[in-house]
Formats: sequence, structure tokens, C-alpha cells
Amino acid sequence: MSHNILITGASGYLGGSLLARWNEAKLPAYNKLFALVRTPNQADAVKQYGAEPLTFDAYDEAEVWAAVVDNNITVVYHLIAPWPHVSQSYFIKAMAEVKKRTGRDVHFLHTSGAKIFSSHAGAPTEKPLLDSDPKLYEIQKAQQASFPLMQEAIGVNNFVIEEAEKYGIRSYVFVPCIVYGEGEGFGNRISIQTVAIVRAAEAVKCIYRVDTGRPTWPVCHVRDNTNMYLELMHKILADENPSYGQNGYYLASPGSVAWDDLYAAIAAALAKRNVIADDTVVTAKGQDLEAMGKGLGCPAELVSLMLGGNCTFTADRGSKELDWQPLYKPEHILEYADAEVDFILRNKNW
Ligand SMILES: NC(=O)c1ccc[n+]([C@@H]2O[C@H](COP(=O)([O-])OP(=O)(O)OC[C@H]3O[C@@H](n4cnc5c(N)ncnc54)[C@H](OP(=O)(O)O)[C@@H]3O)[C@@H](O)[C@H]2O)c1
Repeated sequence: MSHNILITGASGYLGGSLLARWNEAKLPAYNKLFALVRTPNQADAVKQYGAEPLTFDAYDEAEVWAAVVDNNITVVYHLIAPWPHVSQSYFIKAMAEVKKRTGRDVHFLHTSGAKIFSSHAGAPTEKPLLDSDPKLYEIQKAQQASFPLMQEAIGVNNFVIEEAEKYGIRSYVFVPCIVYGEGEGFGNRISIQTVAIVRAAEAVKCIYRVDTGRPTWPVCHVRDNTNMYLELMHKILADENPSYGQNGYYLASPGSVAWDDLYAAIAAALAKRNVIADDTVVTAKGQDLEAMGKGLGCPAELVSLMLGGNCTFTADRGSKELDWQPLYKPEHILEYADAEVDFILRNKNW
């Protein structure tokens, strides 16, 4: 029996882009591809990619159980939310049942985020932190986050690994970073990350840096992010035993850029379009953070979480274990900033 696959978040930026490239990826044979959807329009849309729509509540244990067990789903890509762990826990339990009934290896991928491996989450930042570091699970277990939200998100990464291990399921923690570029899916085509910078700047008519020094953050073009999802799927379907569990962290990123350089590139694009008065990047003070928070719809304390921080998380596993080679260098995000801003402003919905 070959695999039945379920993709969640298919109407999102990352999931939609993944589905859009699915057929050209020439994946090894599988039985069925399902996509979790929430509306009739989404159900129609996923069919164009050869996916069978499934409508159920990912936060209802009985519904998840029925969807997974009745359809013998052996691979789940979870792209809904990095926290809480509720939905992930239901999927893992239901997949354990499929494993029991079929005797097959089953695979659960949790989409996390680079913030959970950053200064915001108490991750070490004094040197590169490799996604292939054999101690990464222990490092995550020891992290003390400055934001309770982040502590919860670290907990979900650990929970997925531990719970999957308990049930004999292969788990993968997939880590997108600042993903940019026009999405290719049928639903949301804009990244949540670059939008936040533009949205805050529009609200306060200026680009503010929220940190001191020159902190950096990993970046990734959406095509490269998609390709890593697909390369991992390829290995899973080919039974090539990609690393999993405590060694199953996969960061999709060709490298990092300094926030200051990203702010400057976005400031130039915004100033050119008269969204802000000029392209100077200014260090934020207390009242600026308040105003930016209003623009972003979050408290001032959370602005730095959305727009800054230091993350030395570095991709190593993808290029070594998967046949993943990025198409775009990290600096491409700076060259592309003008097009990114243009697309965001033309499609903004805040
Ligand atoms: N984009 C990035 O740069 C980035 C970076 C790091 C981490 N991530 C994480 O990666 C994941 C996907 O990101 P994204 O950019 O694709 O987000 P997105 O565009 O906002 O898409 C979110 C997807 O999740 C679905 N969803 C939300 N709540 C759901 C629920 N209760 N039940 C079922 N489906 C639900 C949405 O469906 P509807 O369309 O029906 O609402 C949509 O398909 C998120 O967890 C995000 O935090 C993203």
C-alpha cells in the first residue's frame, strides 16, 4: 500500500505555494493526496492540483480521527499554526492508529518558525546554530523565552517530537524563516513577515529599527521554501529515511541578512511610493513602539517580536540530506524588496 498524504493550510501562503508546485515535482508514487479545506471555494481550488478536498475541524479530536483513520493517511504536512499543540496532538494520535492498523511507517511534519530558534525564544545567538546540531533538541528543551508566547511555541516543537516518539511516528520540525516573494497558491499570496514591516511603517510614516547593533535573521524565497517541503516529501515517499524526531529539524534558508539592510531596502521602496516621507531608518523609542503596535494591532511589547531580534539559526540539513539547493542567495531579498513592497501595497488587506 502506498502513502496517502494530507496537506493542511493549502489556502495559505506556504501551503498554497507548495500545492502549486506539487505536480511538477515528480514525486515518487503515492496513493492519494488530500487537502484540508474550510470552504466550498477552497474545495474546488485544490482539485486543480489533483488533491481531494477534506473538510473537517482540525481542532476537534473526533473529526481529525475520522479524517485520518478512515482515509488511512500516512503522511501529514501541518501548516496551520506553530502553536498551540492541540491540532498536532490529535493528528499524531490518529496517525498512531493508522500505523497500528496498517503496520506502515507514518510521518508527521509540524511547521514551526525561526522565531522559536531566536533571541526572542532564548536560543543561543553568539554563533551559528545549525539545524543539524545533534544537541538541538536539548538546546530547545533548555530555552527560556522572554515572551510567554514563545515559550509555548518552543513547547510545541518539543511536544511534537516527544509525542510522535511515544507513538512510534516519524516527526519533522520544518522551520520557515522570513519567507518572501509572491506566493503561488490560490489563496493568500503574501508572506506574513514582510507585510508586518510595511504595515508598521505605513502606520507611523517611517521605518524604525527595534534593536541595537546589527542583528541578523535567516531569509528564504518562497520557491526555495516550497522546494524544501517537496524534497523532504520526496525522501519520505521514496522510503529514503530522512532524519526525524530529535534529529528532524529542517530550516529552509540560504542564509541571513541584517534587519538594518532589510529595513533600508524596504524604506527606499516605501519612500519612492510616498508611503513614508524619506528612506532614513530611525531607532524606535517607547512612543514609536506604541504607535507601531497600533498599526500592527498588537501591544507595544510585541512589536520587536514581529519586526526584529537576532536569529543565527543556519540551514545545514537540507543541503546535506535532501537534494535541496537554494535558487536564491540571501541578498536577493534586498534586491527584490522593491517588487515585494509593490506587491504588498497592491494587495494589502489590513
Ligand atoms: N510566511 C512565513 O514567512 C512564515 C514564517 C515562519 C512560520 N510560518 C508559519 O507557517 C505556517 C503557514 O504560514 P503561511 O504564511 O502559509 O500562513 P497563512 O498564509 O496565514 O495561511 C494559514 C493557513 O492555515 C489555515 N488555517 C488557519 N487556521 C485554521 C484552522 N483552524 N483550521 C484549518 N486551517 C486553518 C488557513 O486557512 P484559511 O484560508 O481557511 O484561513 C491557511 O490555509 C503558519 O503556522 C505560520 O505561522 C510562516
